[in-house]
Amino acid sequence: NEETEKNIVWHQSTIKKEDRQKLNGHKSCMIWFTGLSGSGKSTIANALQHVLYKNNLRVYLLDGDNLRHGINGNLSFSPEDRKENIRRTAEIGKLFVDAGIVVLAAVISPFEEDRLHARSIFKEDEFIEVYVKCSLAECEKRDPKGLYKKARNGEIKQFTGIDQSYEEPKKPEIILDTTELSLVQSVELLSSYLFEKAGLK
Ligand code: PPS
Repeated sequence: NEETEKNIVWHQSTIKKEDRQKLNGHKSCMIWFTGLSGSGKSTIANALQHVLYKNNLRVYLLDGDNLRHGINGNLSFSPEDRKENIRRTAEIGKLFVDAGIVVLAAVISPFEEDRLHARSIFKEDEFIEVYVKCSLAECEKRDPKGLYKKARNGEIKQFTGIDQSYEEPKKPEIILDTTELSLVQSVELLSSYLFEKAGLK
């Protein structure tokens, strides 16, 4: 808030992001995965992380489910708390990018406004939004954690796609349709995008 901003001075670090990137030998960026529960975000992000690591890139995965066990443990699934969840995830990611690391975030992030806010705190070429697209019917069929069943029974409230909305991204950098693509195909598409178009490596 304004009062805080008035009284807090930003300390310039003498070691800059560019210095860390140089030391690491690659650029750093945020790769943001959005999509319904069960669409394949975490699976693809994990597999991509492995490919990047094997290519000697310094990587770190921020997974929504895992963050909710720690830093985001006090947040619910109300729209307000999801907003805060996304804000924190983006801010943490920004620190990683500043540290010269390629960071992957896998969070449903169902609201366009919150994703746009996340994007806005990064430099334009440092935020890559990956829409992991999958129909609700298919996610519900997969139901890997049995959560859709619980949501349909009313045991879980405010479940994305059931009694809360998922807004499709308007301008993602890349769309992976996991109803059509295998895991290997999705990771291949994404890694070639990152290496050839986004200048990673
Ligand atoms: S969000 O919308 O970005 O804040 O959600 P996220 O932090 O990614 O957490 C999603 C995981 O939490 C589990 N879960 C729910 N998801 C959606 N809606 C409700 N109400 C809910 N309750 C629990 C679910 O396992 C999500 O994991 P993924 O990996 O997406 O399936």
